Amino acid sequence: MTRLSVNINKVALIRNARGSNLPNLVQIAIDCEQFGAEGITVHPRPDERHVRYDDIPALQPIVKTEFNIEGNPTPEFLKLVLDNKPHQCTLVPDAPDALTSDNGWDTIANEPFLTDVISELKRAGIRVSLFMNPEKRFIEGAKKVGADRIEFYTGPYAEQFSENKKTAIAPYIASAQFANSLQLGINAGHDLNLKNLKYFKNNIEDLLEVSIGHALICDALYYGLHNAIQLYLKELS
Ligand code: PXP
Repeated sequence: MTRLSVNINKVALIRNARGSNLPNLVQIAIDCEQFGAEGITVHPRPDERHVRYDDIPALQPIVKTEFNIEGNPTPEFLKLVLDNKPHQCTLVPDAPDALTSDNGWDTIANEPFLTDVISELKRAGIRVSLFMNPEKRFIEGAKKVGADRIEFYTGPYAEQFSENKKTAIAPYIASAQFANSLQLGINAGHDLNLKNLKYFKNNIEDLLEVSIGHALICDALYYGLHNAIQLYLKELS
């Protein structure tokens, strides 16, 4: 079974455009779960243009499925995560001014840093996932630094999908087999949508979770949030 975690950053972006509380992010998270989401993901960035740091304590008690906080492990981010204890923390090496996450960890160059951060999060009972490109040497490094899971950065897959889906998926199949052999759990996210999700899911053995934001929220403009979530769940079933 592959869980669908809905990333609600884009909802916060709309709210922030007017400075009021419309749409209400907490109510959206409650509704996403009621409409079938099996997790809620947020990615607070240093400029707080999406989810803000003060949204996290409001979301933490109401998420009943799985709460996943993603981000670059700066001291401020780590304090936020440790104070709020989500089920999962996904560490992402994105620059403070990044438009969106666009690369996975170099787990070799960052080995001492990641080892320390991951052990601190795991001591607090938080599962740790690392955002990764499908590269074996870095996946081996993910195991070494103590990650529980990896999250495949699926941007390049999505980009190549319409041209040649077999070429697009190939590195992910090989890397997933390798990650499974190391007993690393596998998540995936970025640019997954109603066209490319099923093929990814069907080809990746033991895909535990996908986190999807941009496309799902865009689809909700046409179909409504309930229908959009159900359509994504159908692709995963
Ligand atoms: N995973 C990570 C680490 C991300 O940064 C994002 C975007 O915030 C996603 C998954 C979800 O990507 P998308 O919004 O394209 O579905």
